[in-house]
Amino acid sequence: MKIAILTSGGDSSGMNPAIKKFVEHCFAKGYEPYFIYNGLEGLIDGKIKKASYKDVGGIIYRGGTIIRSSRSKRWFEKEYRKKAFENIKKEKIDLLVILGGDGSFRALDVFYKEFKVPFMGIPASIDNDLPLNEYMIGVDTALNVIRCAIDDIRDTASSFNRAFVIETMGRECGYLTLVSAVANGAEMCLIPEAPYNLENLKKRYLKEIKEGRTYFIAIVAEGLKITDKIKKWFEEEIGFESRATVLGHIQRGGSPTVLERLRAAEFVEIALDNFEKTPNKIVTYYDDNFILRELDEIVNSKYSLDERMLNLSKPLMGFERI
Ligand code: F6P
Repeated sequence: MKIAILTSGGDSSGMNPAIKKFVEHCFAKGYEPYFIYNGLEGLIDGKIKKASYKDVGGIIYRGGTIIRSSRSKRWFEKEYRKKAFENIKKEKIDLLVILGGDGSFRALDVFYKEFKVPFMGIPASIDNDLPLNEYMIGVDTALNVIRCAIDDIRDTASSFNRAFVIETMGRECGYLTLVSAVANGAEMCLIPEAPYNLENLKKRYLKEIKEGRTYFIAIVAEGLKITDKIKKWFEEEIGFESRATVLGHIQRGGSPTVLERLRAAEFVEIALDNFEKTPNKIVTYYDDNFILRELDEIVNSKYSLDERMLNLSKPLMGFERI
C-alpha cells in the first residue's frame, strides 16, 4: 500500500518529527511511504517522491518541514484540484496523510467531496484554532518560544520604568496570547474572543504604580490589530514610556519541544494504525485522548477557548474573575 504525506499552510515546529515517524511507521507496518513536496502546490505539480529512512535521518530536532509547505491559491480552482487527483492516480497513492490547520482541512473537504481520495488528517499549526481539538502540532514549541522572548523582554522591562506591549500570532485566535499571558505573569491580555475594559485596567494600574509597580508586560493578539494603539494608551493614559515588540515568525520556528515530539509521534501512529478500519478521519486530541473525527464535523464546527483559562485571565482584561 502506498501512503503519501504532505504538510500544508503555515509550517509548525513538530512537523519534522511527525514526518520521521511517518516514514518509520510505514516501514514497520509494511506500507510504502511517499512525500509530496510543497504542500498542495506540490500535489498540483506532481511533486511526489518515494521516501526512505535516509530522508528523515537527523531531522527530529529541526523546526519547519523538510518536505516544505505552501498556501495554494490554485487549489481554489477545480482544474488544479483535478490535476492533483490525476497525480495521485498516476502514482497509485492509496492514502493521503495531511498535516495542516483549519484552512488545509477545508481544502481537503472540497477535494474529498469531488474525488473521494482516502485521507487521514493531523492538526498542525501554531494557532491552535481547530474545532473539537485541544492540541495542534507546533503549539507547545510556539508557547515556549514566546516564553523565552517574554523572559528576555522582562530583563530590560524590569530595568526601566516602561510598558512593553508584545504582539503574538494566531490570526483570529487568541490561544497563544491567552496562555502566554497567564503563564508568564503579564499585566494585560487582549484577545479577539473576549471583551476588555481599558478604564478598569487604568484604575488598577494607577493604583499599582502608587504602590510601587515599575513596569508592565502586555500581551496582545495580532488578530485585534491594536498593538500600536495600546502602546500609545500606556503613554497617554498611564504615563509610562512604552515599546512594542511584534514577535512575528520566530513563533513558528525553534527546535520541537519534548511534548511536541511525543504528540507528533502519537498523532502519526494513530493515523496509520487506524486508516484501514476507519479511513477519512481527522485525528484530534481532546480531553487527554486521541479521538478520530469526521472531516465534516471539524469544518462545520467552531473552535472555542478553554473557559477555565479565560476565567484566569479576566483580571488581565479589566474584569473580575467569575
Ligand atoms: O497560521 C499560522 C500563522 O503563523 C498565523 O499565526 C499568522 O497569522 C500567519 O500564519 C502568518 O502567515 P504567513 O506566514 O503567510 O505570513
